[in-house]
Amino acid sequence: MKNINLILFLFWFNTNAQMITIPVETKDNALVLQTDKENRLRMTYFGKKLKSATEYENLKVSSARYDEANAGIASSAYTPSGTWNLGEPAIEVIHADGNTSLELKYVSHKVEKIEENVSLISVFLKDPLYSTEVTLFYKTFSNENVIEQWTVIKNLEKGVLKLKKYASANLHFVAKDFFLHHYHGEWAKEMKPEDTKLTAGIKTLDSKLNTRANIYQPPTFQLSFDEQATEDHGKVLMGTLGWSGNFRFDFEKDNYQNLKLIAGINPHAAEYSLNPNEEFKTPSFIGCYSENGQGQASRDMHNWARKYRILDGEGTRMTLLNNWEATYFDFDENKITGLFKGAKDLGVDMFLLDDGWFANKYPRNGDVAGLGDWQENKKKLPNGIGFLVKEATKAGVKFGIWVEPEMVNPKSELYEKHLDWVIREPNRPETYFRNQLPLDLSNPEVQDFVFGVLDGLFTKNPELAFIKWDCNAVTYNAHSAYLEKMKKPQTHLYVDYVNGLYKVLQRLRAKYPKIPMMLCSGGGGRVDYEALKYFTEFWVSDNTDPLERIFMQWEYSYYYPAIASCNHITDWSKVGIKYRTDVAMMGKMGYDIVVDKLDEKELLFSQNALKNYSNLKETIWKGDLYRLINPFGNQMAAVEYVKKDKSKAVIFNYLIENRFDMNSLIPDIKLKGLDPEKKYSIKEINVFPGTKSSIDEKMEYSGDYLMKIGINPAINHQRTSVVLEINEVKQ
Ligand code: DGJ
Repeated sequence: MKNINLILFLFWFNTNAQMITIPVETKDNALVLQTDKENRLRMTYFGKKLKSATEYENLKVSSARYDEANAGIASSAYTPSGTWNLGEPAIEVIHADGNTSLELKYVSHKVEKIEENVSLISVFLKDPLYSTEVTLFYKTFSNENVIEQWTVIKNLEKGVLKLKKYASANLHFVAKDFFLHHYHGEWAKEMKPEDTKLTAGIKTLDSKLNTRANIYQPPTFQLSFDEQATEDHGKVLMGTLGWSGNFRFDFEKDNYQNLKLIAGINPHAAEYSLNPNEEFKTPSFIGCYSENGQGQASRDMHNWARKYRILDGEGTRMTLLNNWEATYFDFDENKITGLFKGAKDLGVDMFLLDDGWFANKYPRNGDVAGLGDWQENKKKLPNGIGFLVKEATKAGVKFGIWVEPEMVNPKSELYEKHLDWVIREPNRPETYFRNQLPLDLSNPEVQDFVFGVLDGLFTKNPELAFIKWDCNAVTYNAHSAYLEKMKKPQTHLYVDYVNGLYKVLQRLRAKYPKIPMMLCSGGGGRVDYEALKYFTEFWVSDNTDPLERIFMQWEYSYYYPAIASCNHITDWSKVGIKYRTDVAMMGKMGYDIVVDKLDEKELLFSQNALKNYSNLKETIWKGDLYRLINPFGNQMAAVEYVKKDKSKAVIFNYLIENRFDMNSLIPDIKLKGLDPEKKYSIKEINVFPGTKSSIDEKMEYSGDYLMKIGINPAINHQRTSVVLEINEVKQ
């Protein structure tokens, strides 16, 4: 939030332990907190909001399904450890005197209206015995039905308070059943979904990889209540943690079948010590709840992300030509400048130079050496980056560059000079991931270095227009020479690394607020809503096979809007350029090909596709997304984007599987989100030169017709990908 205007400020203090009710409301929903007779804070409701907020007082901790005698504690709004709670805690501490018990009682709360649509509710809790204070924050984005939650823990004891666990959110749900939609994957296999009906016990989703949060699991999930939510039906919470490091979500179903969710930084090997008067702010848990299915939740989440979270989320983006798959490490100045013309011929805005442009003593001619030595390689680029920027400008395109500033190859001058900057166990063999190691971002000198890599590039080349920030390795042997020198616990490393990264990004954004940056992590290994405060977009996956991308982009689209999702057309698969282009168009489109290798028709097709994209990008980036036909379990997929004023829409249709003469089975596809009163015409775009569309452009349909009866995209084995542009016909 850029400008915090305090409009309304309300305080409550509980002096005589009367029941306090705190509704945390958005446009449609409410999360209700209440104190019980012991003055502990409970979460007593989660669901559709009531017409009258005063009625929440009737809840009286009675709505949950449990026996007050022993399980009433399950609904704690921030479950402590070592006293009455025997379930999974949200917070676990060791006091200065070695005592491990914690009790949290309500003291006061505050409601601040930050702007018309945004409020901040903070609830102050305190241990009656020890000087440990906890404040729970709930920031509501009313129109978007998003609640952002975090916690601040303060140590007012005389000695060090050790935090063994410090969750961001502790939520409590009551429903017949709970269904979890979550993910796993690896390099080039991001966002593989799993569906699980939660059973008694704890289901944990977590990461311990530090630098790459989500090579195995990303910090995103959907939780459905009563029954599995679908696109347009059912109750569903989309949840994610804004943290670019180790996370943990625990879904604990108790023996009364209530569900407790504890979400936050992974406490694994991450005990954090607070000196007297120090406080710890957890990252944010972001939740978006809908009772109208996944579609509503993700449209709300996209609106929130564009308006409040992603850097320049409501701005514009550049189309680009990247050289990674075109050249890999094998290039020189001539080869690169030779590609600029292709970028211009194609019609993209920018050329992006990828990995391999730097290091001299140990040249970066492969992924085994040079990382960390950020000087132009003199053999490959004798005239430096400045020359490339100038040549690109002459050719009529902007110039962007790849960096991976958090990492080092052991075969590098940086490693030779600054072994103490490298995360490694000094007395054990090093373990590599892609032949590299992370630098220790808990160390302010390393933060300066990483900032300096970017700052140096911009200072020398003020016209540099774009950064692709990569981060390939996981963190083995998590040991910091800096923390050792400072006599700080090694268990601070995971937290201090990520906060160190944010410090660098904050400095960078203070000096270069607008430069677009792509968040990349060996594909989509690190995507989250804290990092996206500093990045304009993210790289979905190195896997650019369009068929795989339909599934991956489908899953990412639940949480992230198309404007942030970088989709490139590459030669990864043998599928024709049309299918690849159509799939890439469903986000922020780019290329990673040798343009000269396109034949005449392919080039013409691509040039036209870029023009179509230019005409449709506002609708794709900023419109409402409707997932019409799910590729999982169907032989085709269809995704629609509708401009906010309902004057324009675009539908992407794909054949996924072509067994048993699939085309005869394609039904009419019912559109969504149009104005039933408006008239629309339909035009097929991205038609490959020499082929004809079977869609009649002269027909006019009402929005009512298109949403109730629909249209047939006429997909068949020769028309495996069909893009339809829908335009309002002004009467
Ligand atoms: C991994 C990224 O995902 C790729 O796009 C590319 O930039 C390589 N790293 C370069 O090493």
